[in-house]
Amino acid sequence: MKDEIFDTYRNAGEIAAKILHRSAREIREGVSYLDVVESIEVQVREEGAALAFPLNLSLNEDAAHDTASAGDVRVFSRGDVAKLDLGVHIDGYIADTATTIDLGNNSLLLEASRQALEAAIKAVRPGATAGEIGGAVQKEIEDRGYRPIANLTGHGLDQYILHRPPTIPNVGVTGGVVLEEGMVFAIEPFATTGSGHVGEKTRREIYSQVSQKPVRIPAARTILKKVKDRHGLPFARRWLNEKKLDITLPALVRSQVLHVYPVLSDIAGSLVSQHEHTVIVTSDGCIVTTRSR
Ligand code: CO
Repeated sequence: MKDEIFDTYRNAGEIAAKILHRSAREIREGVSYLDVVESIEVQVREEGAALAFPLNLSLNEDAAHDTASAGDVRVFSRGDVAKLDLGVHIDGYIADTATTIDLGNNSLLLEASRQALEAAIKAVRPGATAGEIGGAVQKEIEDRGYRPIANLTGHGLDQYILHRPPTIPNVGVTGGVVLEEGMVFAIEPFATTGSGHVGEKTRREIYSQVSQKPVRIPAARTILKKVKDRHGLPFARRWLNEKKLDITLPALVRSQVLHVYPVLSDIAGSLVSQHEHTVIVTSDGCIVTTRSR
């Protein structure tokens, strides 16, 4: 990896870490989701960076892909387990990091995903397999009496690419990609009191453009013009102010121009925690780009 690219990854990581931890401290009972989400997204731009995806704010049994909608009236409540998942990029080089805020008594649940992430990071080195990393994640979570979410994974990153090989599982599997120096990926263990599998909810707030094929409906063309500068990275429905998004966005998904990221949830009433860092594999281990410095 060129020094310049390495430095850009580290700068993006430093910005993401700073904003995530500063913002996590603001979350308490009665605070509005929309205020938190908008504040974080503004801070990223103020740092001269850009969002790799809309801030994900997912509560309790929701593991991922929720974010505030325009005019969202939801506020944090006592007992909530809130996941903040932030993606920042500079020139397309992405830092992806997440933390969990506990407004109840769930410190062991948070500890499970936090220690799973630390164990995974320690296991990263050239020659290790993605499956071994998953094994380290699974052990830390199960040792504390919870389940890892098996159908959510860490993912390789590249310029303007949010998901590419290697896939980093949250459970031990035999084999998987053999890690190599210079690989960049996010590791994101999820610990749950629920089933260990997420399914899709009907709530859909996050989309990305996956095809350049021409569209005829004028309203759809306006949306695509607006999201062009995303380079295919996800955007929030909240970022658009067009009328009839309820019709246009699903139409663009049906015609396979947009991909939709429905909210992913474990069973109702369960609680999910998540911790995530982005790493670059070095000759003898890895560098964590998103660690607070
Ligand atoms: Co991620």
